Amino acid sequence: MKTLYLIGFMGSGKSTVGDWLKQKSARFHLDTDQMIVDQYGEIASIFKAEGESVFRSYETEMLARVPERNYVISTGGGIVERKENHMLMKNNGLIIFLDTSFAEVLTRLGEDVSRPLWGQADHARYNLYKRRYPVYRSLADMTVHTDQKTPDIIAADIMERLPQSYV
Ligand code: S3P
Repeated sequence: MKTLYLIGFMGSGKSTVGDWLKQKSARFHLDTDQMIVDQYGEIASIFKAEGESVFRSYETEMLARVPERNYVISTGGGIVERKENHMLMKNNGLIIFLDTSFAEVLTRLGEDVSRPLWGQADHARYNLYKRRYPVYRSLADMTVHTDQKTPDIIAADIMERLPQSYV
């Protein structure tokens, strides 16, 4: 079974949906953010001490490491910032975009301080969302709307729509 990659903005539920999808699709689950924390420490500290660009290199390193078969991979919202990440995902599996409205992201994240790029003014957050949205859309093999849906329902939606070769 080929690997499934979950992409989407911060707060779109990639980690929780990945956990449900792991059970429903009988795959293993890895989260690139968690892999980075395990190897390099807290994300906020990496941003502060080494900068975003180093964090992006760690992301690519993790993505290159995940198996092409039998996994669900939850990515960080900024995985689309590097073109080489697009290729790594496109060439190795199915890309699923968790499409969450900005209003819903605002409600879900509130004033979360663990995400460095969320700790900006509202207009800067929205600009980031607007800039990335078309990139998620164009990369996705499947787009799933997530507003007002629970993670288990989203995972069930994905399972129903998986192409036969990925089941
Ligand atoms: C980021 C999203 C975060 C994390 C880091 C940067 C981003 O992951 O990778 O804070 O650039 O959007 P989540 O999407 O899981 O919040």
